[in-house]
Amino acid sequence: MKNSPIIALDFASAGDAYKFLTPFEQSLFVKVGMELYLQEGPSIVYKLKEMGHDVFLDLKLHDIPHTVGQAMRGLARLGADLVNVHAAGGAAMMIAAREGLEAGTPTGSTRPSIIAVTQLTSTSEAQMQQEQLIPTTIDASVVHYAELAKTATLDGVVCSVLEAKKIADACGQEFLRVTPGIRLAEGEAHDQIRVATPANARILGSSHIVVGRAITNAENPVQAYETILKMWEENA
Ligand code: C5P
Repeated sequence: MKNSPIIALDFASAGDAYKFLTPFEQSLFVKVGMELYLQEGPSIVYKLKEMGHDVFLDLKLHDIPHTVGQAMRGLARLGADLVNVHAAGGAAMMIAAREGLEAGTPTGSTRPSIIAVTQLTSTSEAQMQQEQLIPTTIDASVVHYAELAKTATLDGVVCSVLEAKKIADACGQEFLRVTPGIRLAEGEAHDQIRVATPANARILGSSHIVVGRAITNAENPVQAYETILKMWEENA
């Protein structure tokens, strides 16, 4: 799995995604989320893999263990490099997810890595406390979910940059910390609440960053990607 910034292909159709990708000359690490996957289905993953890209299939599964296990068994055949579930689904669900992936990975292929979403980067501490009735700090909730994911033998978590270091300390450097909420300037948060720049993400302990609108909405997406890649690599 590559370590370059993961570009979120948050587009409504495969046509829009391919149009966006055309000016890029190198092979990329791209993320297909529910917006694109629910329109295009498995073919979008096959095609992106054929084009030579690494694929994070960000479907954030969250259901009873059997259902998630069976869904992962099917997803394992698509060839994605990274998939995810919500840690809030619980340890049994995460274990079923990983077992499903293992069962579904074709012989001779590598099992996709699997990570758990902790608290969404669009969630504030006040929201978590008032809406989810979790009476602790966001840090404590995120680190707790990360430890639960590690116990359930997952490969890492999705978290905000602000929690990445604590998770590395608690779960080890090998445990993936994939962080969305990346912005070139702190002022452009959109709906994200816990945001950071690519340089800060690296310094604060992200293992991978996910970048959507800072690249896809840029006037020159290739240039925006190169700038972000440079900031990310320079701080390694
Ligand atoms: O445009 P932006 O950079 O905010 O996009 C972030 C991407 O990361 C979106 O595709 C979003 O679904 C995803 N994501 C997130 N927070 C998580 C998990 C995934 O923002 N916890």
